[in-house]
Parts: sequence; C-alpha cells; structure tokens
Amino acid sequence: MSDSRRLPVPVPARVSEGAANEVRDMESYRAHYEAARDPAYWLEQAKQRIVWRSAPSVACRGDFSSVGEAPIHWFEDGQLNVTESCLDRHLDARGEQTAIIWEADEIGEGRSLSYRELHAEVARAANALAALGVKRGDTVIIYMGMVPEAAIAMLACARLGAVHSVVFGGFSAHALRDRIVDCRARVVISQDEGRRGGRSIPLKAVCDEALEGLEQVESLLVFRRTGAEVAWREGRDHDWASALAAQPDTHEAVAVGAEDPLFILYTSGSTGRPKGLMHSCGGYLSWVAYTHANTFDLREGDVFGCVADVGWITGHSYIVYGPLCNGTTTVMFESVPTYPDAGRYWDLVARHGITIFYTAPTAIRALAAHGDAPVRAHDLSSLRVLGTVGEPINPDAWWWYFEVVGQGRCTIVDTWWQTETGGHCITPFAAATPNKPGSASFPVPGIQLELRDEKGARLEGATQGHLCITHPWPGMARTVWGDHARYVDTYFSTHPGRYFTGDGCRRDEDGYLFITGRVDDVLNVAGHRLGTAEFEAVLVSDDAVSEAAVVGYPHEVKGQGVCAYLVLQAEAEASPALLDKLQAELRAEIGALAKADRFLVIPGLPKTRSGKVMRRILRKIAEGEFEAIGDVSTLADPGVVDAIKAIASES
Ligand code: PRX
Repeated sequence: MSDSRRLPVPVPARVSEGAANEVRDMESYRAHYEAARDPAYWLEQAKQRIVWRSAPSVACRGDFSSVGEAPIHWFEDGQLNVTESCLDRHLDARGEQTAIIWEADEIGEGRSLSYRELHAEVARAANALAALGVKRGDTVIIYMGMVPEAAIAMLACARLGAVHSVVFGGFSAHALRDRIVDCRARVVISQDEGRRGGRSIPLKAVCDEALEGLEQVESLLVFRRTGAEVAWREGRDHDWASALAAQPDTHEAVAVGAEDPLFILYTSGSTGRPKGLMHSCGGYLSWVAYTHANTFDLREGDVFGCVADVGWITGHSYIVYGPLCNGTTTVMFESVPTYPDAGRYWDLVARHGITIFYTAPTAIRALAAHGDAPVRAHDLSSLRVLGTVGEPINPDAWWWYFEVVGQGRCTIVDTWWQTETGGHCITPFAAATPNKPGSASFPVPGIQLELRDEKGARLEGATQGHLCITHPWPGMARTVWGDHARYVDTYFSTHPGRYFTGDGCRRDEDGYLFITGRVDDVLNVAGHRLGTAEFEAVLVSDDAVSEAAVVGYPHEVKGQGVCAYLVLQAEAEASPALLDKLQAELRAEIGALAKADRFLVIPGLPKTRSGKVMRRILRKIAEGEFEAIGDVSTLADPGVVDAIKAIASES
C-alpha cells in the first residue's frame, strides 16, 4: 500500500475548510450525535428547516415495542404543505436561481427551470390534477422517465395533499398494473415515450397495456416527450401540455398534517409481492433536508448532480425533496453513463459545474473498466464531494473514484440507507469523517444501532451481525400501504423491539461500519432491489417448470448476478428455446431489470426433511465455492448436491 493510501483517508483540506452545516468535524459530529438521542433535537431541526403553516409542538410518539398497535408519529400536531418548503419560500431570494437542470438524453437538448418557473409549473399541474378530481388523500401513479415533468407531477400531487407513487419506467405493464391496483389510483401520469441511451421506451403503450380493462383508472395524463404517435383513448387520456395551459400559474397549497402520507414507493422484500412503503410529510422532509445538507456539507452555490432515477427512493430524497427544500440547484439526468460514450458523466460535471456528484457503485465499476482517459479528458475541478449509494462499494472502485474522478481533492461519502429509511442512516459526513474505503463509516445523528446475532443477542465491539436500529427517526417509513401487519411482521419480528434492516454489517475496532449485503432473500442487482420470491413466482408459473430457486452471486460489475435453479416437469425439455421463453416471461412480468444471468436445470432442489429449500447451499454453488458447502447430512436427499455441483461446473 502506497503512502497516499494510508487509512483512514483524511478529508482533503479543500473539503473540510469552510464547512457550512451542523456536522463540520468529528467533534461536532459526536456532539450532534449525542444531542440527537433526544427527539427534541428533531423538533428544533424540523422547525428550522421546514416552512410550517402551524409549527409542531411534539416530537415523537411511539416506540418499536408498540409499533404494532400504534404507528410511529413525528411532529403530529404540525400542519404544512411540503411544496411550500420546496418552492414558495425560495421565490423571494432564489426566484431566478436554477432549480432543475434537465440533462436530456441527447447532449444539448436539455433545459433548465428556475425556482419561479418550477413553482408556476407545479401550480398549473396541481390545478390540472384538481380539475381531474384529484384531492387530498387520493393516490396518483406516476410512470415516467427522467424529465422535469416527473418532478413537477410529484410536487403537484404534494401541493394538493394527494399521495404519489412513482413506478420506475423500467417496470413491465404487469408490475405497473399491480401497483395501480394495490394503491387504488384513479389517476395515472405518464408520457408518450422515454429516452435512454439513444433508444425510445414506449411508456404510454405500457400504460395502455397495464390499464386494459382496469376501469378503476379514470384519467391518464400524458406528457409528450418525443411527440411519437401513441394510441389515445378519448375520455380517459389527457394531454399534459394542453391540460396545464388551460390553468392559472398560481395555486393555494393544501395544508395537511405532518403525518399525512406524502408518497408510497413499492419495493421488494424477501417474500410475496412488492410492498408500498408509506412516507409521511413532516418527518420525511425534515430527514431528507437534514441529511442532504449535512452528509454532503451543502454550500451556497452548489450544483447537486444525483444521477439516480426518480423511480427509486434516491431520486425522491436527493433529486427532488432534499435539494429543493434546501434551495439547491438539482440535476435530472435522462441518459445512461455510457451514452454517447464513457465520458458522459464527466462531460455532465464539466458543463454544469457540478460540485457534488452522487451515483452508484455499479456505474463506478462499469466506468472504471473503460480506463482513466474518459475522465481525464474533462475538467472536473468543480467537484468537491463524491457520493455513492445502493450497494457495497469494493475498495478498488472506491480508490478509482477517489483518485481518478476526485483527483485526491474530493471526499467520498458512501451513504447507506434504504427505501424504508427515507434518507441516509450510516454515512461519512463530507466535512468531517476520515474514510475507510468500503465502509459507510458511522451512524447519522438520530440513528441508534445495534448488531445482533441470529439468535437476537446483542454483539459488542469489533464484530459482525444483523444490522438493527433501536429507536424511531423522523425519516422512517410509517407503514406498508394498506397492510400495517405486514410492516410490523417484515421489520419488527426478527428482532422484536428493533427495526431489522435485512442487512449484515461488520464493525471494526475503530467503530467503522462495513455493510456486508443482504442477509435475507433480497437481491441487489446493479443497485436495483429485487426479491428472489418475485423471480421464482414467475418461473414456476411456466408449465414446464416444477420448482425454482433463485439466488444471487458476486458479479464484477453488477454487484450481484442472478442464478436461477430450475427443476423441470417430467415431460419438459431443457432447450435453449425454453430458457429464452423464461427470460421473456421475467421481462414481461417484472421488467427489463429482472434478467437471469444463469439458468441451471437440476434434478431436484436441496431440501431438508421438512421440505425447506437450503438456499445457503445453492448460493455457495452459484459462487463456485464447492468446498464451503459444509454438512449436507440433514438433507432429505444429500446426493442431489453432487448432481447440482456437476451441472454448475459444466455450465
Ligand atoms: O443492502 C443495502 C443496499 O441497498 C439496500 C436498500 O435498497 P433500496 O431500498 O433499493 O435503496 C437503495 C438506495 C438507498 C440496503 O438494504 N445499500 C444501500 N446503500 C448501500 C447499500 N449497501 C452497502 N452500502 C451502501 N452504501
């Protein structure tokens, strides 16, 4: 290890000097961490960071031992409308400042919106939605690409006190329909086509398929991104531009309670169908505003470039709500990192003077594989903070990000969090935290952690175990939409009285935390979260398949690859045509992101005598770690393991 790679890596002076937020060094980190054990700390934060119609007087109600009977509440007597914090309050001081830089798929085709323009567009969209009958408490599905209108649609819902649920534009008609049905939306907002990497994505056509025979949806508002010809159902479909043009650019925001739902976001778990996590207005906004400011040490004049998609929680929290609440210039990126070439991100940074850049390890690994030249070809001197999110970052990729992209002058924040947590929970603070590559470092103030073993015993010191959070924090999801029992069962039953994250975590002797990945049956493929159960349900629904078990295995670029073990029906044949058909079924049922990287047709699954599939064995085989399989004597048919090993090593 060279001298420059001594650990921990200090925060470059250029980043630590002039720190502008609460957490400015390790001393202030510790002080705020201690102070934030008291929920009153968050009441103060919420009052300072958010515009309230009526300020709250209570901080938190409820705890994790009684979350089954009474959901957690924060700031419950407060009244607000989230968009007044994100838009109205900025009009005087920042009306002409750019709110959103839209980087379209084709370089040069994007545009910018000032806070004043964004405010006006949101007002028009809110009026247009109200004209379609949308009101406080209604749910609206948004199925769009990365266009400013997606953010406008989200904010317009919030303006009305309606609850949006954004569905990632890569999900299939089937997945979209499931979500529409689950949240009982009567209005859907979509666009003619999306654009990504020079290709068109037929969003409206997918919507049409999803809505086939679904009378529940009364209105489909369609933004024309490309102008492509699309099918039109009179009476149901409405053109976004004409609907907005018919409306005034002012709208009186609807004040709602702090605990009113702001949005629902569906995510995969280890069992069953994706569940709709519900985030509330007051707590969520306080959390994303606080973490957006402190994690990145946000400063006046920053240009914040988060290249996630609004279809995921990262896009909600750190493209839309956090940055706009903090009056930042935020970027919406429609394209992909390699279009038109592997220098796209760096060109984006240079052209817009991005100071904080936030992406996923998958993209970093993919770009590192193209070498340093595409990075070096651009002037990246505007950068100060580099963020990563979504999966563990391997030290090689971390060093490449630090040395090549950041040129040793920027700090890295490896932010650990989840759809459920609303915002960052474990992360370095840009101005304060010396880094150990691969470690998300320390908990955010307000996040009290525990590592536990599988039996529930608390582990101390340098150790490894299940990552749990012991106390409520303002940004946590409050419930699973329409199914509070599932929420309690999913998150609070493995370790009673604690929120169990589903992740494993190692703590070193200095207290640095290293996320080791999911310990449940959730896959993380290229930063996209998918449940093995969802794959298996699709595979076994094919007539040729009798049983299926899906596991993840390490993949150089994607983080995890998907290995599907199949047991076929007696008369079925393992032909390439069958495997192609299964791949197509995965795509149709879940979406293009649900691709099996390997199919292994095997004679039987390894099961215990009570019929439980031993996934541990299947994981080891997929990883190629045949020696590490361990004792198989408890299996109903131990011989099946040798047969599977033989098939795996031939494939
Ligand atoms: O396994 C962890 C991984 O992503 C999961 C959450 O996925 P999702 O809800 O889709 O949210 C992703 C964006 C916040 C976690 O349970 N994960 C997220 N960030 C990190 C991570 N794993 C390691 N390091 C991270 N920084």
